[in-house]
Amino acid sequence: MSGQTEPPASPAVPSPGLEQIPAVFHDDIESVLIGADDIHRRLDELAAQVDVDYADRELLLVGVLKGAIFVMADVARRLTIPASMDFMAVSSYGSSTTSSGVVRILKDLDTEIEGRDVLIIEDIVDSGLTLDYLMKNLRSRKPASVEVLSLLTKPTRREIELPIRYVGFEVPDVFVVGFGLDFSESYRGLRSIVTLKPEVYAG
Ligand code: IMP
Repeated sequence: MSGQTEPPASPAVPSPGLEQIPAVFHDDIESVLIGADDIHRRLDELAAQVDVDYADRELLLVGVLKGAIFVMADVARRLTIPASMDFMAVSSYGSSTTSSGVVRILKDLDTEIEGRDVLIIEDIVDSGLTLDYLMKNLRSRKPASVEVLSLLTKPTRREIELPIRYVGFEVPDVFVVGFGLDFSESYRGLRSIVTLKPEVYAG
């Protein structure tokens, strides 16, 4: 061979967007799917649309705990129309990364919603089973309207077609965390949406 040498091992290339994430999480992260700036730009757009659609109406935002906390806060403070906030907590039976559609209400609304315009704020719609239950449950209370704003949707995973009026981003069929979304209660506080390395799930 004519003096060829093995190429040096390439230095680990950091995933783009990783610099905005605290170093303590870097080893767990496979890729940054949606950066914080893109999330905020999209929430600007969605909130502006909600402002227009609900002008002159009395909007009640219903955040689904815990995943929707940051979407709720970020949408609510962008709105220029008056809006009240309430929260529900539901538990969906299933494995750690999929839901079964059997839903239990852990915390119900404090507010009567009869005759109100309700906008459910979600972090992600995956199979759609949780949201389907929630929409049926809220509709039975005779609100004037029920619509949904979700930061993320995984359309390829949908088991029930649901009308989601405001969607932030479509994501592929991968488990994501950050911006409220967790794995075993970790990673909710990340400002970006990221995927985790397989070994993280293996524990
Ligand atoms: P669905 O009933 O399958 O639509 O799931 C809804 C709930 O499952 C969401 O509100 C999340 O709490 C959780 N979930 C679904 N996909 C993900 C994910 O990729 N990361 C984190 N949580 C998820």
